[in-house]
Amino acid sequence: MIRVLFLCLGNICRSPLAEAAFRAHVEARGHTDRFVIDSAATSGHHAGEPPNPGSIRVARAHGLDISAQRSRKLVAADLRQFDFIVPMDRSNQRALIDLPAHRRPLVREFDPECLGTLDVPDPWGGGPEGFEEVWAILVRSVPGLLEHIQHNGKQV
Ligand code: 4NP
Repeated sequence: MIRVLFLCLGNICRSPLAEAAFRAHVEARGHTDRFVIDSAATSGHHAGEPPNPGSIRVARAHGLDISAQRSRKLVAADLRQFDFIVPMDRSNQRALIDLPAHRRPLVREFDPECLGTLDVPDPWGGGPEGFEEVWAILVRSVPGLLEHIQHNGKQV
């Protein structure tokens, strides 16, 4: 079993979409049984809350229902139990400094259209186009992320 956790600040906007996009990609390849996929927050501010309406809406527009997800804060046990923890930006990545680099790649390291920042922009408080942009980044990034995980799966 390969355990993959997506991480952002609130676990209500970006990481719930990353969890959904990665799960859909894995499922489309018939690998669902090999993975445990989850998401978490570096902050506890939104613990217990469902995803932001903008994230629920963009997922639904792409055929996925994320409304049952609930925000939770990253705990120390996650660092041991997940083989890969994938932060949405470099600020989130700081919580993972104790992990070997191959176990904490930024999701945008795998975005073939990433020209500038390696951060997924935070759409919180903005309009629907921000959530669409996050979704587009994630859809472009998850194939490369899955390859990275498959190539590094035995080194954890
Ligand atoms: P997320 O977005 O990290 O993608 O879930 C945010 C959610 C909440 C806040 C900031 C970003 N906040 O400041 O409460």
